[in-house]
Amino acid sequence: MYEWVKAGHVIAVIAWMAGMLYLPRLFVYHSVTAPGTEQSETFKIMERRLLKGIINPAMIATFVFGLWMIHMGAVDWSQGWPWLKAAFVIGLTACHGILVRHTKNFAADANTKPQRYFRIINEVPTVLMIGIVIAVIVRPF
Ligand code: HEM
Repeated sequence: MYEWVKAGHVIAVIAWMAGMLYLPRLFVYHSVTAPGTEQSETFKIMERRLLKGIINPAMIATFVFGLWMIHMGAVDWSQGWPWLKAAFVIGLTACHGILVRHTKNFAADANTKPQRYFRIINEVPTVLMIGIVIAVIVRPF
């Protein structure tokens, strides 16, 4: 049973990360598109569907499967790596919240951030994901 829950966790993580990497990339292009144009409206639909259809459900599934494994006694909290992972996961969840806010801003044609900002924020989930995988697989401490 435990291995099935872990498989579900990794599948959900892949879907969550795919969306977390793609959504800010859409913002990079959307931020240089004039509001009211057909292209801008298409970006809005893509962003909303990606967030509601993939990113939000995948995040919930990641938490459900992950917390389920913790409930099954998977984690020895006397070691350092679960705390390192938890810190990065909190960072990724905060980043998720920031992307939700930007999706709402774009939907209201109220984005004020420049393209450069989205290029930078585009890299944040990648860095956090690398940290999480090293924490959970290498377990450096
Ligand atoms: C959302 C909160 C999360 C919780 C509560 C959680 C919890 C867990 C737990 C308890 C395990 C089993 C650890 C073990 O092998 O003994 C696990 C495995 C794993 N987690 Fe998470 N996790 C979360 C988010 C993430 C995220 C965001 C990623 C990647 C970006 C991730 C990647 C992994 C991977 C790759 C494994 C498999 C490690 C192995 O082969 O043993 N997790 N997670």
